[in-house]
Amino acid sequence: MTDNTARQLHTDLPDLESYWMPFTGNRYFKQNPRMIARAKGMYCYTHDGRKLLDSVSGLWCCNAGHCHPKIVEAIKAQAETLDYAMAFQLGHPTVFELANRLTDISPDGIDYAFFVNSGSEAVDTALKMALAYHRIRGDAARTRLIGREKGYHGVGFGGISVGGMSPNRKMFTTMLPGVDHLPHTHNLEHNAFSRGQPEWGAHLADELENVVALHDPSTIAAVIIEPIAGSAGVLLPPKGYLERIREICDKHGILLIFDEVICGFGRTGDSFGATRFDVTPDMMTTAKGLTSGTVPMGAVLASGDIYDTFMTGPEGAIEFFHGYTYSGHPLAAAAGCATLDVYQGEGLFEKARAMEDTFADALHSLRDEPNVIDVRGIGLIGAVELEGIEGQPTARAMNIFRECFDNGVIIRTTGDTLAFSPPLMISQDEIGTVVDAVRSALRNN
Ligand SMILES: Cc1ncc(COP(=O)(O)O)c(C=O)c1O
Repeated sequence: MTDNTARQLHTDLPDLESYWMPFTGNRYFKQNPRMIARAKGMYCYTHDGRKLLDSVSGLWCCNAGHCHPKIVEAIKAQAETLDYAMAFQLGHPTVFELANRLTDISPDGIDYAFFVNSGSEAVDTALKMALAYHRIRGDAARTRLIGREKGYHGVGFGGISVGGMSPNRKMFTTMLPGVDHLPHTHNLEHNAFSRGQPEWGAHLADELENVVALHDPSTIAAVIIEPIAGSAGVLLPPKGYLERIREICDKHGILLIFDEVICGFGRTGDSFGATRFDVTPDMMTTAKGLTSGTVPMGAVLASGDIYDTFMTGPEGAIEFFHGYTYSGHPLAAAAGCATLDVYQGEGLFEKARAMEDTFADALHSLRDEPNVIDVRGIGLIGAVELEGIEGQPTARAMNIFRECFDNGVIIRTTGDTLAFSPPLMISQDEIGTVVDAVRSALRNN
């Protein structure tokens, strides 16, 4: 089909050519456009009026559902009151309120919020904070950053350097120097079909001791990991693993950063991965659910020790030479406060926790369907891993994505894994609808 024919088939759409879409097969999409025109609650609606149950909260972000009226109202009111205030040297009240409220729901000791516009910016900001922290303390040799295989930390140069997803790295060649990686924890031989945290694999954290011995602790600034690796296919931390990583970091004076961009804001059935797994890092990177996906915003949530270390220069001097024009943007801050109101007012984190077993039962009911090699998850994040089609990696999962879409359900794929992260108020019936669509697609593919 030529471009022109594709356009003729979709005469109600604008010309699709000029938009270069992110992480998308542009040519395929423009021949086969899947357009979302509006959304409400659990549902998205295509430009031609089809209704789709959204089992991934947009892109792991609309945790309060789409277009929540209270969040929409707060954004409108803020836009009418203050569109923008200079982010450097001036402030506005809403962003201070949001910082207070975020640190209220963070683990004890995480007392400060630095605002950014995305998860990628949160990661690069946290890495820079770690380097500067050690330097201010007179430990300037601590420049190494340790990530993990299969980690996803966004697309900035810092994020792809500490990240461990090879397609996101190999196209660009240049990375930050001095980065090393821990092994990933994904192991189907030991952990297939685990519910919640797998039993096997805490010892993989001990690899950090080897990395430390190799480079010497005096050269290592920080370790960054996702409590649950989301984009690599929902990889849960083995029992005891995060605790062990925390211990080793403490032993060697290394900062621990949890990338909570997906795990935060109710996804695990708790405020954060850190609170669900009861391990407190020195910094948490957040975004997505912070505004329930409505206005771009991220935040680095940092410990008092880190903040205090920066607050030691001359009074009146800038302490951290970093920030964005849109750090703490009024619309995003208003959306963030309203989102926290909704999470708290509607008890959404508790609802997610209460639905955890129903969700896990439903996903595990797919265990004996064709090509299913693993089912895993916790809270309202889950995955079904498939045996790929020989010689065509990712094709089976994409076929299932397309069939589910055609049958009224949006799912997410990553490699040959199907991933689910529905809005936190999903009902038992809606979980049933998602799983029925996936079951039928599995049988056809
Ligand atoms: C763990 C993690 N960190 C960082 C990011 C990057 O966030 P953004 O796409 O907002 O830059 C993502 C995005 O999915 C993520 O899952």
